[in-house]
Amino acid sequence: MAFENVGIVGCGLMGAGIAEAAIRSGYATTVREISPELVAKGRARVEKSLQTAVERGKLAAADRDAALSRLSFTTGVEALADCDLVVEAATEDPELKKELFVALDRSCKRAAILASNTSSIPIIELAAVTARPERVIGLHFFNPVPVMKLVEVIRTIRTCDEVVAAARGFGESLGKRPIMAKDRAGFIVNVLLVPFLLDAVRLLEQGVATREDIDTGMELGCGHPMGPLELLDFIGIDTTCSIAEILFEEFKEPRYAPPTLLKQMSIAGLHGKKSGRGFYDYA
Ligand code: CAA
Repeated sequence: MAFENVGIVGCGLMGAGIAEAAIRSGYATTVREISPELVAKGRARVEKSLQTAVERGKLAAADRDAALSRLSFTTGVEALADCDLVVEAATEDPELKKELFVALDRSCKRAAILASNTSSIPIIELAAVTARPERVIGLHFFNPVPVMKLVEVIRTIRTCDEVVAAARGFGESLGKRPIMAKDRAGFIVNVLLVPFLLDAVRLLEQGVATREDIDTGMELGCGHPMGPLELLDFIGIDTTCSIAEILFEEFKEPRYAPPTLLKQMSIAGLHGKKSGRGFYDYA
């Protein structure tokens, strides 16, 4: 099954990255955001990242312009009616995502595949609110999407073979390496990554080391591109807190429980790089 029109729901960090990857790979892409203000912010995000790619010599200016000509925005889900594939990349909130899947199922053509970029919610919970559970799948990308080469493909107990093959093919067409995971909260990467990040917060909370030394430890000691606290700021404190809560809810294991410091930072709006302050100051 070949895709022509792709829809993306949400144009935050992940939605903008997925949209950028799609338009750079030749797909006519419509992005839905909830307000004209968020549309403008989302467009600026995509344009800025494409410009960075040009400045880094990763993309020709003419290809940037061609990519941007494939990008359009909307504030209504109905505008995604003709998309062959819609990737939902909204906030990590199960109820919000379920509402979106109900709306997408109503608006999108019957043959369309509905995918979610959720990092932790079992895909079957989203598939179950639609009348097409066999055409619902997980496509989990990694931040920054234009740079990270992985996509997790999550098949539910209802997803059909044709949809799995098409979703894998889509990931490959974006230059990503698909890996297959069972439909279980956290899939592969977050089940491994999140407890590690939470342990770094616990080390800081317990006063074992400074934030700089915790990060330097993993950068220089283990060759990680960034330390866990910097990575938490990069992913988003609020996002990681939501992921941890969903994982804890699913497995009831203390290692997934968000530490007090992380919860308080989330409540206080210290959401990391995107908000200007997290474990570090970006002002
Ligand atoms: N388009 C294309 N290429 C780009 C680009 C863009 N918009 N922006 C940067 N690049 C390229 C650069 O040109 C550079 O390429 P080369 O190595 O070929 O020179 C490369 O990307 C790295 O960029 P920088 O030199 O600017 O930055 P860096 O070396 O400091 O790396 C980083 C930045 C890629 C973010 C790196 O620090 C990193 O990999 N961090 C870890 C990221 C990570 O773990 N992400 C996963 C988070 S978990 C997640 O997303 C899922 C979830 O559910 C929570």
